[in-house]
Amino acid sequence: MHREVIQELESWRRAGVAWVPRIEPVLPAAAPSPGAKTATTPPDRPASPPAPLPAAPQETDMPKKATPSPLTLLADRCTTFQPLELARPDRESRLAALKERVAACQRCSELARTRTQTVFGVGNPEARIVFIGEAPGADEDAKGEPFVGRAGQLLNDIIKACRLQREDIYICNILRCRPPGNRLPSFAEAENCREYLDGQLAIVNPDYIVCWGSCAAKNLLGTEEAIGKLRGKFYTYGRARVLCTYHPSYLLRNPAAKKDVWEDMKFLFKEMGVDLTAK
Ligand code: URA
Repeated sequence: MHREVIQELESWRRAGVAWVPRIEPVLPAAAPSPGAKTATTPPDRPASPPAPLPAAPQETDMPKKATPSPLTLLADRCTTFQPLELARPDRESRLAALKERVAACQRCSELARTRTQTVFGVGNPEARIVFIGEAPGADEDAKGEPFVGRAGQLLNDIIKACRLQREDIYICNILRCRPPGNRLPSFAEAENCREYLDGQLAIVNPDYIVCWGSCAAKNLLGTEEAIGKLRGKFYTYGRARVLCTYHPSYLLRNPAAKKDVWEDMKFLFKEMGVDLTAK
């Protein structure tokens, strides 16, 4: 088992993965983190290291864990990995190399057979925030970019309401291929794609992750808790704080839930030191 773990890690390192995140829910911090930018400035990476995260999570904040996957178990064992502070050109070249590997991926035979192309991820390789969705739909499969259909338009509106541009954020999905008929990603497909997601997260090394919808939240955090229950508190993945909220496609069907997402965005940005209600 030990040798298999080492071999797996070697292959991750060759793919550009410099550290393996560890899942650990924490209480929401009371005060904004130091180094956060003002409301008018798109948040970017603070010059100084982020404040240490609270050490002792409370039991009440723990999401109900699903049976740990082999990769989660692997990640739990590999706590000696640390995030690398890579220069922008290194991030770009590592992301480009990983994208090339993804484009040739045949791990999920049905998806590889039915996709038009893989949909890797897009945005700022130095983003403080990574958005994670579910999987590409028809529009994304055609264009090769995440969130470019109707849900993507709504996501863009949300980003603008947060006084940012799409280019300020890094956007990706649990899957890099479209499931036929837009069905839910299977557990095996999400596991197959996890190495790529973790690679992207390790390279971008964000301070914050937003899981859009239950597929992203369940898979990233390894929980079976409903998305409505996961909202309103921060979890951690590696060194990133994770917020879970409703998927834009859900908002298209249930516009009344937009106010909840706006609450979630205000909560996130307050944590970053940005008051979205300020004029
Ligand atoms: N829905 C997602 O979850 N991701 C996309 O890229 C598009 C729609």
